[in-house]
Amino acid sequence: MVLVLGIESTAHTFGVGIVSDEPRILADSRFSYVPSKGGIHPREAADSFIKNAPSVLREALSQAKVAIDSVDAVAVALGPGLGPCLRVGATIARALSTYYGKPLVPVNHAVAHVEIGRMLTGAGDPLVVYISGGNTVITARYGGRYRVFGETLDIALGNFMDTLVRELGLAPPYVVGGVHALDRCAEGGKYVELPYVVKGQDTSYSGLLTAALRAYRSGVRVEDVCFSAREVAYSSLVEVAERGLAQLGKSEILLVGGVAASRYLVEKFRALAEYRGVKLYVVPPKYAVDNGVMIAWTGLLMFKHGVTVEPENASVKQRWRLDSVDIYW
Ligand code: FE2
Repeated sequence: MVLVLGIESTAHTFGVGIVSDEPRILADSRFSYVPSKGGIHPREAADSFIKNAPSVLREALSQAKVAIDSVDAVAVALGPGLGPCLRVGATIARALSTYYGKPLVPVNHAVAHVEIGRMLTGAGDPLVVYISGGNTVITARYGGRYRVFGETLDIALGNFMDTLVRELGLAPPYVVGGVHALDRCAEGGKYVELPYVVKGQDTSYSGLLTAALRAYRSGVRVEDVCFSAREVAYSSLVEVAERGLAQLGKSEILLVGGVAASRYLVEKFRALAEYRGVKLYVVPPKYAVDNGVMIAWTGLLMFKHGVTVEPENASVKQRWRLDSVDIYW
């Protein structure tokens, strides 16, 4: 049995997961930084990670009932993400690897979102829609890499949703009972025209954000603003995904990342899947958000194919692109 410990610290979550190749999740321990106001403050988040890392690590080892000596490798998310946050996880992983003489595995956070989705849903070779606070990417495996078939030209879908509800005075908290404030506000709303932008295979949300806020300030009802902004944002993503499906001839769609928890977005993709006669898979909400398990699992796949890095070369890569990573499994 191969055991891998994985560390996640790319944004607001410091997580440690331990998995085996059975496959089994042996531990999933997390700490989440919640900003006192506004969006994430990278240095504040990093400081909170430093404070909480020892207890998260101890908790993971006790959940898994293993000593760190019996772990075969240490995996760490080296990017993409926020520099100060990434450096906390990388420093801890390098120290563990060096001190305990364990191989170190460099994991791309985006690849990990895809791989945990595949592992938990059983999807084989899907068109992947990766949507979170920091990423909006349509990707699929082609020629040994996850190629990008569409992405946002500016802000990510999750960032758009969070910023809009914050500016409308509806958040934080952004998500209550698994429902995003935008979805809650959109109930009973009617459509008003907002700019719908798709350029080639790419989406764009910053113009939509500005237009939605302008509409609100000019007197449009808040529920109409929320409903329309959501319709436009989700529909442009579905349009791009549909073209990706048609071009690539994939027979599965997999939704991963924090925004995959939105029931309304899932409904739209379910309609697309039915229309196209393909299968839809959605990562379970618990693993849609950042966690150490996805890093451990992807690290395990990489470790089994001999991908490791010397600790002195394991530097963080804030803009590490998904399509620059070779996939051997
Ligand atoms: Fe993420």
